[in-house]
Amino acid sequence: MEQKVQFPENFWWGAATSGPQTEGWFEKRHENVMDYWYRTRRNDFFNGVGPDVASDFYHKYKEDFAMMKQIGMNSFRTSIQWSRLIKDLETGEPDEDAVAFYKDVIAEAKKNGIILVMNLHHFDLPIELFKKYGGWESKHVVDLFAKFARTAFECFGKDVPYWTTFNEPMVIPEAGYLFGFHYPKYIGKGKEAVQVIFNLNLASAKAVEIYHSMDLGGEIGIIMNLTPAYPRSDSKEDREAAAFADAFFNYSFVDPAVNGTFPALLTDILKKDHVLWDADEKELETIRNNTVDFIGVNYYQPKRVKAPEGKQEGEWMPTWYYDEYDMPGKRMNPYRGWEIYPKAIYDIAKNIQNNYHNVKWFISENGMGVEGEEKYRDENGNIQDDYRIDFYKEHLAWLNKAIQEGSNCFGYHAWTAFDCWSWNNAYKNRYGFIAVDLNDQKRTIKKSGHWLKQVTEDHGFLYDTDQLK
Ligand code: BG6
Repeated sequence: MEQKVQFPENFWWGAATSGPQTEGWFEKRHENVMDYWYRTRRNDFFNGVGPDVASDFYHKYKEDFAMMKQIGMNSFRTSIQWSRLIKDLETGEPDEDAVAFYKDVIAEAKKNGIILVMNLHHFDLPIELFKKYGGWESKHVVDLFAKFARTAFECFGKDVPYWTTFNEPMVIPEAGYLFGFHYPKYIGKGKEAVQVIFNLNLASAKAVEIYHSMDLGGEIGIIMNLTPAYPRSDSKEDREAAAFADAFFNYSFVDPAVNGTFPALLTDILKKDHVLWDADEKELETIRNNTVDFIGVNYYQPKRVKAPEGKQEGEWMPTWYYDEYDMPGKRMNPYRGWEIYPKAIYDIAKNIQNNYHNVKWFISENGMGVEGEEKYRDENGNIQDDYRIDFYKEHLAWLNKAIQEGSNCFGYHAWTAFDCWSWNNAYKNRYGFIAVDLNDQKRTIKKSGHWLKQVTEDHGFLYDTDQLK
């Protein structure tokens, strides 16, 4: 039977995006790794479309904030581009035009009553720092990130109430060093990936330390992509594989961010295999003493795993300890190739509640990318994305169940407000509440955008809660 799924009055309803995926290259002083990747290997990107114009947020942010307000959003996350804000990457000196631009963005959010979450890193390392120092493998880059963070807090800290250090830090080692789907597209560099995991955690803790020391009156967190690992069976081997996958892909960031420590299950294995990161006592202390105020969870898909079948040979890889399991009958988003499993959002919430002292958190991304959405345009030119509304409802209903049971979740951000560019998928899969026409940058609200407005007014929606089993 349908019942009202009711959310708290002050619940955050909104969406996330990032600077490099929306702003365009206009007036940027440096290139980031994604800009460089596109400029040098255009064919890696769907239909050869790059981030040069993206959704032109650089010029259209006023219009965009007005539309966000129109669809009921009360909060929004984007990111400051390191490659835009910082003129001198070694000293952290800001670029004046960039400061003026971000100040205006921040003021515009405020004018529209939208709570701004400002993120510092969304995969967009300046390419010079990769070429010169080896990117996130380098501790010097960690220090340069801390300088960038300090500059950002000095310039905008008083006006931005919520900050986050990284978006999906795990994607950097996973996609860049292990499986080769993001620049630099290395495959099989397990040991280097392990060092990158540590360095990103250290960089995040250093930014948290600086932020807290400045006493700016806001809060700082980190955004993690959590992919809960479900074992193929209840056998000891499959359960061990799932425990390892969780420790490596999820807890290697959640544990240090929330508790200041690394999971012992992971560090024991890394030590045994002689691939533990290089870290000194002072660095570990920085991580221990600088935990976050809240966490953001990007949830798209679970991880299905089984005991590994391959041999432990060659360069160290996390796949020595688990294999992906192609579960028969799983529900798929065929465009993105990701499994749809809404209940995982409840499992994540319970895990945070039970094992991470019920720290404050929000869903910072969740969404459904669909290719060829044009076919769903009706005679009035509006995209009828009922599939997306159903997707959101299912996930929100599971989230709501966890909140009813005491989970400390304060909001839900979809990916994304406006269709935006993405790393090598470019504009293939559309995710927005608002469609963007790449020919003329015209924006039109999709059915899901109108639905969101209604949900924010009603603080919920009707749903057959018998489905929550
Ligand atoms: C998230 C990232 O994991 O997935 C975003 O934080 C990204 O940056 C989004 O755009 C969707 O990815 P894709 O490849 O389906 O467009």
